[in-house]
Amino acid sequence: MGLRPALIVPTHRADDARSWALERGLLDTSFHPLSLDGEVAWPLTDAIQCDIGRIEKMEFQPRMAIDPHTRLQQALPNMKTPRRWEILDDLVLLPQDALLDGDESTWIAVAQALHCQRVARQAEIESGPKRRSQVEMLLGNYGWVNHLENGVRYLFDVTKVMFSSGNITERRRMGNTDSAGDIVVDMFAGIGYYSIPLLVNAGVSYVHACEMNPDSIEGLTKGLSANKVAERCRILRGDNQDTAPLLKGVADRVLLGLLPSSKEAWPLAVECLKIEGGVIHVHMNATEESLEDGTFVSTTVEEFETLGCKVEVLHLEDVKSYSPHIRHVVLDLKVTKL
Ligand SMILES: C[S@@+](CC[C@H](N)C(=O)[O-])C[C@H]1O[C@@H](n2cnc3c(N)ncnc32)[C@H](O)[C@@H]1O
Repeated sequence: MGLRPALIVPTHRADDARSWALERGLLDTSFHPLSLDGEVAWPLTDAIQCDIGRIEKMEFQPRMAIDPHTRLQQALPNMKTPRRWEILDDLVLLPQDALLDGDESTWIAVAQALHCQRVARQAEIESGPKRRSQVEMLLGNYGWVNHLENGVRYLFDVTKVMFSSGNITERRRMGNTDSAGDIVVDMFAGIGYYSIPLLVNAGVSYVHACEMNPDSIEGLTKGLSANKVAERCRILRGDNQDTAPLLKGVADRVLLGLLPSSKEAWPLAVECLKIEGGVIHVHMNATEESLEDGTFVSTTVEEFETLGCKVEVLHLEDVKSYSPHIRHVVLDLKVTKL
């Protein structure tokens, strides 16, 4: 098996050391950590200098290459285990209906089987405009995660702020837009679902981020710092009906990421665009019927035209199913002010 680099720390610092190694891409997850006398040794991919613990060479046991579903089933042989879950940082987020009769030993088994430290269960997202998460912690009482996706870090408390894994394609798409140098107004910024990929991967020059939920603002602030883009984003706290009027004529691009409808913000979005116009990404829930017969697109275009604009449809992105027969879509419009 051979010797490999190990990061050795006192047991009470095990979690810190694991996060430290994980964040730097140094944790070798194909081997089990070792429990020593009062210390823990984490397997590393590379020996590097560090001040969090000492580095030595050690022999580690490889993790068995069985798939996670089988591991979970083997860990809980008498229970109906879920077919899917999300992993955010070191936290397993179970679906809302999973393992309802579980107890602490169940959560420990889930965490061990899926190589995580914390377990939580999804709940209905609050229907109000803040779209608060109501996730329940089952193992561990700390809900903050540092989730890496497409080279972007999202920091948030899973018990307070929603994170829709189904929107991964839209977060990636924003990072791939042809928007280098743009000035962006994000009217529903949340924790930076779209603003941060635009800053990190698309190279927009500046984002004005409107957000009214203090828990999201805390995540956004931390996320901007973690991604080293804080100096290219200003957070406007409070209702965008009050803050967006301060942004008249500044934007090349406006994001309207609110479900089920962003309609209330459409007039302000147009006002935020520069005099020569720009692109608006309109998030909406639309019925399958209105998408098939084209009425969703045509009525949206007409509404923007009544706001005094010339409108060209650039793209209609089908993000995900929201509920039966309802799709979360994003309509990209090139809007010129008349
Ligand atoms: C959760 S995001 C939706 C993100 C994205 N569409 C998704 O599903 O991943 C919407 C954000 O808009 C914020 N919000 C809603 N109404 C607002 C308003 N009038 N002014 C400022 N922020 C608002 C909410 O607090 C929330 O953080």
